[in-house]
Amino acid sequence: MSETLLDIKDLRVSYGGRSFLGLRSTGFEAVKGASLSIRAGETLGLVGESGSGKSSIANTLLGLVPAASGTMRFNGTDLAALDTHYPPEVRRNIQAVFQDPYSSLNPSMTVEQIVTEPLKIHTSMSRAERRERAAELLRLVNLPETHLPRFPNEFSGGQRQRIAIAAALALQPKLIVLDEPVSALDVSTQNQIINLLYERRDALGIAYLLIAHDLALVHHISDRIAVMYLGHIVEEGPADRVYHRPAHPYTKALLDAVPLLDPARQRARRAARRAAPASELPRMAEAGCPYRNRCAFAMERCHKDVPTSLDVSGGGTAQCFLVEGGTAGVSGLKEKVTT
Ligand SMILES: Nc1ncnc2c1ncn2[C@@H]1O[C@H](COP(=O)(O)OP(=O)(O)O)[C@@H](O)[C@H]1O
Ligand SMILES: [Mg+2]
Repeated sequence: MSETLLDIKDLRVSYGGRSFLGLRSTGFEAVKGASLSIRAGETLGLVGESGSGKSSIANTLLGLVPAASGTMRFNGTDLAALDTHYPPEVRRNIQAVFQDPYSSLNPSMTVEQIVTEPLKIHTSMSRAERRERAAELLRLVNLPETHLPRFPNEFSGGQRQRIAIAAALALQPKLIVLDEPVSALDVSTQNQIINLLYERRDALGIAYLLIAHDLALVHHISDRIAVMYLGHIVEEGPADRVYHRPAHPYTKALLDAVPLLDPARQRARRAARRAAPASELPRMAEAGCPYRNRCAFAMERCHKDVPTSLDVSGGGTAQCFLVEGGTAGVSGLKEKVTT
């Protein structure tokens, strides 16, 4: 088993200002104590709906946003303690690919300049060496060398994402943070890019933090999957277990987001998923499970107590009382959903 590359513990990320002297974060908390880890060469899929805090984790890891508290150990260094002032050695080992291939590439730079920019910053390679490496990088993402003198506006979204991936591969980083890298692409291009990432990872031994809102799309390339809801990691575990036997009702709802063809089943599912009316819920701002108001299975204690991480049979953990005793709550959920 390979060593742990990244170990994030109890990470909190806030926006909207720190108090005087920066002692305490006073703004909106987007990440509320998240823990996750990635081993060398491994892919962690981080999924959850829009606004759940996925990009906040990514941007904090990339040193674009400071951590309010918690630790982020990367290769032994606690990045959270560096307060976004990362040494070059860390910067070169964590690269990123973002969602929008139309705004993430500098329109005034050629493809060659884009993919060799990291080499210019971080290495002492000569121009000729960089040019040679640029051609090699394009081959790695299945683009012809003839694209090198061209500009981003000459390419499709999928081609632009290949160029962004080539630039991210340039320094042979230990980790690439991929923040919804295929969300802006059409379905067939999405699969091509996912397959390309898969091939490159296995050939180069790079770890990925792969962020997506579509669990189905990333599950086959992920070794592990973490599911985020409102700033919390509510479930985590081996990709196949999370995908085929989700333990947390929210993970199940994410998987159920694909519409059913049978209207009666679809209606039954929707009814089962519907949250209890707000009037019946006790008014306790932060107490209880973060998912309780939308959960079809919320029990009284879910409104009072916060579930801690409980082990799920088959691997991983879920923050849900339904998995107590080490048995995934899935079978129980299924019965309730269909009756
Ligand atoms: N720069 C920011 N300033 C203030 N609030 C932000 C900022 N970035 C994100 N947020 C808020 O933090 C929450 C999580 O956002 P984000 O991390 O982008 O989620 P995701 O990537 O899962 O969609 C959202 O409520 C969002 O509105
Ligand atoms: Mg995002």
